[in-house]
Amino acid sequence: MEPYLVEMRGIHKQFGGIKALDGVDLCVRKGEILGLLGENGAGKSTLMKILTGVHQADTGEVLFEGREVRFQSTHEAYSLGISIIFQEFNLCSNLSVAENIFLGKENRKHRWFLDYRNQYKQAGEIFRQLDVEVNPLSPVRCLGVAQMQLTEIAKALAVNPKLLIMDEPTSSLSEVEIEKLFSIMKDLKSRGIAVIFISHKLEEVLEITDRVTVLRDGKNAGDIDTSKASRERLITLMVGRSLDDLTAPDRVKPEKEEPVMEVEDFSGPPFVEGVSFTLHRGEILGFAGLVGAGRTELAQLIIGYTKKKRGILRLEGRDTDIKGPVDAVKAGIAYLSEDRKNLGLNLAMTVRENLTMCIHDRLRRWLVLLDQKMERRRANNLVEKLHIKIDTLEQLTRNLSGGNQQKVGFGKWIATEPKVLILDEPTRGIDVGSKAEVHRIICRLADEGAAVMVISSELPEILKISDRIVVMHEGRVTGRFTRQEATQENIMSAAISTAEVKKGVCI
Ligand SMILES: Nc1ncnc2c1ncn2[C@@H]1O[C@H](COP(=O)(O)OP(=O)(O)OP(=O)(O)O)[C@@H](O)[C@H]1O
Ligand SMILES: [Mg+2]
Repeated sequence: MEPYLVEMRGIHKQFGGIKALDGVDLCVRKGEILGLLGENGAGKSTLMKILTGVHQADTGEVLFEGREVRFQSTHEAYSLGISIIFQEFNLCSNLSVAENIFLGKENRKHRWFLDYRNQYKQAGEIFRQLDVEVNPLSPVRCLGVAQMQLTEIAKALAVNPKLLIMDEPTSSLSEVEIEKLFSIMKDLKSRGIAVIFISHKLEEVLEITDRVTVLRDGKNAGDIDTSKASRERLITLMVGRSLDDLTAPDRVKPEKEEPVMEVEDFSGPPFVEGVSFTLHRGEILGFAGLVGAGRTELAQLIIGYTKKKRGILRLEGRDTDIKGPVDAVKAGIAYLSEDRKNLGLNLAMTVRENLTMCIHDRLRRWLVLLDQKMERRRANNLVEKLHIKIDTLEQLTRNLSGGNQQKVGFGKWIATEPKVLILDEPTRGIDVGSKAEVHRIICRLADEGAAVMVISSELPEILKISDRIVVMHEGRVTGRFTRQEATQENIMSAAISTAEVKKGVCI
């Protein structure tokens, strides 16, 4: 058997009053794909940040190739061959894709000149290997979330690492890209490179890993060969008990079909072309499609974040002109963005501030004073309802784990009790137990009368909660299904179909 490439022993890490890691061990061999699992806030990202020199452990030791190491910076870790794709993107939005990939490890022609041409060529080569379409010349600010994710992956591969750590690399990718990523991981494995793979999608973990290490509340909860693992076994290790009720309740479709939002012939070239649909009261309408199908761009046209070229929006029968996100909130449309860092949350604000910032109008006494007691009560309710793991409401949102930040973003919008709720990848980065909870909450909001539009790259999620499903491909609608008609197969074939559908057809 290969010797251990990395051994972490008895790692402790405390942030103020929060014990993030309490004596954790983790080992990985050369050529091994190790899954790292645990609920939101279990300590996975923190452990990986210690391994890569972002944080320093309070106590405990790390051995790399048998030698003790104590990295003070990510640079030190990189130089030994440890590469990480962080859960949150770390890209400079004004630089091009290729410049980002080679940032800090630039190709030089002579001593002073950067060899841009070679960088673009190499970046193109990495994307060709990955078999995905990303233009190395494009500025990162013009990319969608999936392309940013692919850029992060390319950046990590560009250094020819000995160990590659992937902290939820698939959370913004659709199944086609995930398959491509998996074949790259298998190739790395065959070349003796070790991979640590963090994901909340248990099927992925069961498919690609050799062994799984599970954390629970900052401690080791188990270590298991993937060949002996099952979904149930992994869940039991993660949450400490079996979760039998992971499914959303069966939905009863509302009897009367009252249109709440009608979108007619929306176009915002080049991403959206002639899209029409009607969203009814109490309905969950799923939007399926591959990455780049134009679903997020459609949502952003609806809320006025980007300007449409053509199209009519009717809310409860009235033509409505929405000029920007503020108008959208006033009109009762809430949009949970897939990109929580830029469009969703203010990470420098506290959990309380984020949760209540959209409902300040309703929390005022005598028009000016904020009713702080009421504000705290509302925020606490949301924390409880969504099982957000925090120390206090006054904690900075930045310091929450990724999944818990996602829940805060979700809570902020449900607090507004919107008429139309547009959710873009609502369970991105959320653990299995909480995911079922989020699904239940979405269904409950629909039962209470909200009209919900759910964009998700996870087909099982779409199939589980939607009443009807719209499929998009390259900016156009290529399929419409009722819950009964929809299957994984017919949705996928519509998602890759190039057949044009007639413009302006409503369902
Ligand atoms: N910089 C920080 N300051 C304060 N607390 C922190 C900081 N970083 C992490 N924590 C806390 O440490 C705990 C573990 O967080 P971590 O991000 O490692 O979880 P995770 O397992 O990666 O979760 P997720 O699946 O949601 O990404 C959490 O309670 C989190 O709030
Ligand atoms: Mg994390």
